[in-house]
Amino acid sequence: MAIINKYTDIVILGIESSCDETSAAIVINDHIRSNRIANQTIHQTFGGVVPELASRAHQANVIPVIDTALKDAKLDKSQLTAIAYTQGPGLMGALMVGSAVAKSMAMSLGIPLIPVNHMQAHILAHFIKKTPDQAVPSFPFLCLTVSGGHTQLVLVKDHLEMEIIGQTIDDAAGEAFDKCAKILGLPYPGGPLIDKLAVNGNINAFSFAEPKANGFDFSFSGLKTSFLYFIQKKVKENPNFIEENKADLCASIQHTIVKILLDQFEKAAKKLNVKDVCIAGGVSANSYLRNGLKARAEKNNWNCFIPEFEFCTDNAAMIAITGYFKYLKNQTGSLTDVPMARMEF
Ligand code: KG4
Ligand code: ZN
Repeated sequence: MAIINKYTDIVILGIESSCDETSAAIVINDHIRSNRIANQTIHQTFGGVVPELASRAHQANVIPVIDTALKDAKLDKSQLTAIAYTQGPGLMGALMVGSAVAKSMAMSLGIPLIPVNHMQAHILAHFIKKTPDQAVPSFPFLCLTVSGGHTQLVLVKDHLEMEIIGQTIDDAAGEAFDKCAKILGLPYPGGPLIDKLAVNGNINAFSFAEPKANGFDFSFSGLKTSFLYFIQKKVKENPNFIEENKADLCASIQHTIVKILLDQFEKAAKKLNVKDVCIAGGVSANSYLRNGLKARAEKNNWNCFIPEFEFCTDNAAMIAITGYFKYLKNQTGSLTDVPMARMEF
């Protein structure tokens, strides 16, 4: 069993079940000890996440995943200080599974329960440490959080003090990737496949109009529609158009999505005069976005923080670390808290 100091160490179990990943993780203070993720492949058949199937899979996976995370960390549940879980935003039925399990465990162990905002957690993933001397961003910093359901520019003033200064007015960046991938006949989730296929493509092969949004906001639905009309027209002329141009199409659409993201990001970072910049969320796993941010950071003299792949897409380590910071500030919850499909910071 792991040796912990029960007077000084804070041991948090995090539980994530907001969408289609069931995950459990342990942090001791700000250091990760385990992070288990059960992916749900069933949704691939349907071209998107089916909420009812997601809830059922969470129900089947959640206890084994928690059990394994505890074993990986060499901890017994009696050593936990508190339990953090995703309260929202997310799919209601999926959130209910994680919240019910978290409540039951917290009640039976007699320990605090900590509700966590999933979007805040994506950002705080930057504070998960593997080694004591690991660099973390300094406040205030700017974070671009890009996932399947959200696209937000967030000014992070402190661990738990965040302000959304811009967001999508229609589709999220991950949704744009997934919808364009679907138009190309790729399976769900298409974002990672576009990333992979784009490696051998030319970013300038095709150009697509960039929809404009006010201030630091984003817009992607026009891009998806113009991509659809373009493909429909080309396929009418040549039924093999997609197959013959797949890599170039992926590279060009990826370039357009990432350019929209990074142009707004750069505009905001300059205006706010921040020095530390981050990306977070599932789309931050995209290699073109990661390299693009590094290049702009070099140009602007920013310190740039890019999450490890395991902390980009949904995971419970980010829930556990957020639980740790909330625990330090006494921001615990109660057994009557309810999951929230939509949730503000
Ligand atoms: O954060 P996340 O795991 O779940 C949500 O909270 O939504 O993000 C999932 C999104 C999906 O849209 C997926 O296609 C996208 O992240 N994604 C990527 C890549 N990896 C995941 N998009 C582009 N390139 C990638 N490498
Ligand atoms: Zn997410």
